Amino acid sequence: MELHHLYSEAIPPQENQFQVPNMQPGREEEIRPGKTVMVIGSGGREHAIVDALSRSPRVQKIYACPGNPGMAKHATCVPIGVTDIQDLVDFAKEKHVDLTVVGPEASLAAGVADAFKAEGLRIFGPTKAGARIESSKEFAKEIMEKYGVPTGFYKSFDKYEDAKAYAESLPLPTVIKYDGLAAGKGVVVAATREEADAALKDMLLDSAFGQGRVLIEEFLDGPEFSFMCAVGGRKVYPLALAQDHKRAYDADKGPNTGGMGAYSPLPFISEEIREKALKEILQRTADGLAEEGIDYTGILYGGLILTKDGPKVIEFNARFGDPETEVVLPRLESDIYDLFDAAIDSADHETKWSDDACLGVVLASDGYPGSYKKGVELDFDGCSKVFHMGTAVKDGKLLSAGGRVAMVTGKGKTLEEAAANAYADVKKSAREGLFYRSDIGKHSLTKA
Ligand code: AMP
Ligand code: GLY
Repeated sequence: MELHHLYSEAIPPQENQFQVPNMQPGREEEIRPGKTVMVIGSGGREHAIVDALSRSPRVQKIYACPGNPGMAKHATCVPIGVTDIQDLVDFAKEKHVDLTVVGPEASLAAGVADAFKAEGLRIFGPTKAGARIESSKEFAKEIMEKYGVPTGFYKSFDKYEDAKAYAESLPLPTVIKYDGLAAGKGVVVAATREEADAALKDMLLDSAFGQGRVLIEEFLDGPEFSFMCAVGGRKVYPLALAQDHKRAYDADKGPNTGGMGAYSPLPFISEEIREKALKEILQRTADGLAEEGIDYTGILYGGLILTKDGPKVIEFNARFGDPETEVVLPRLESDIYDLFDAAIDSADHETKWSDDACLGVVLASDGYPGSYKKGVELDFDGCSKVFHMGTAVKDGKLLSAGGRVAMVTGKGKTLEEAAANAYADVKKSAREGLFYRSDIGKHSLTKA
């Protein structure tokens, strides 16, 4: 296979903010020949993974497929698509990649982990069977029901009349979910009967959605939070908690997006609640998957909600959350390569976390999540840490190239300090043609 560097142009000087891979003093002797790692994906989440790997003394070389201009500081970006499974396998073999980390769900759904495992290649990411915890809402509910994982009650339907009758028997608001990947459009929280009916018609009578099966579930009330754990079979390695902001505009107004900002840690989640969620939700689900004969290796992302009856599951994802990863991994003090390595072998491993807070604000293109223009010239000069989500380099210039463009992050001793640092950098990098939310972390800042 012919290999080229995707971003052969010079890396813009503003990218030189990233830390160079370091050697931990005193550990040089124990370091075996450096490891080669490959990261699949091209967003902010994968940029944060590359950034964390670049701090590992065990990692010598990082490839990103296809990567992005922000990652080019630490990784060689290779133009292989995230679902080009055979090309990814061939590349990993050719470059003697020791360990591969998968970012996007699409890659998992296309069977990247199955293909790598079949070739004896080490990969951090679940197989297709495991990834169903995200791709099939009904499968996720079945696992939760069978293993006693707290979540809302539900029923699934493929006939419109039956679904409508059930929906009308429940109090408002009604939660209706399309069962399958629906590019973020598959969940409707309907405030009125009319809205609920329109959603059911859309999903069950219109062919636009495809296979046509819905879940109607209990409406859960409370603050949402994201609990990601690395999982290796029955071993669960918890990551720091984070909160995403899904709506486009301030005060949680506007359409749902991929996420407009995040922060970590979460002052509104006590250690007791975290322990309960870890034991009754994440550990129980990992055990359940193992009972079902699924060898789950990868991130299990719990999208949780703190109800008055304790934490419950809204959804599971089979991968790192975006943008949560961009505020969680900068707080990781232990070696992320060790974490991936341990999870693949279901070995013991303890993660260490900084007490510092991290808060990130997404710069998005005007119009997102609807249609938007690309090509806004970017400048992150003087910013402390920016993760690229949708950028491209053209004629030596760094340009916007996606709906979500970049996650500007700040760190601090407190969330207030992290927010002040992040917003100071947002002010430096905001441009005409881009927008951002000005209230990231507000939920915790006003209550802290
Ligand atoms: P999901 O794609 O399942 O994460 O759902 C998207 C958003 O819809 C969630 O982040 C929640 O804000 C909301 N949502 C989903 N399910 C429920 C539920 N059972 N009760 C309340 N809100 C929900
Ligand atoms: N931040 C939500 C997700 O990654 O799905």
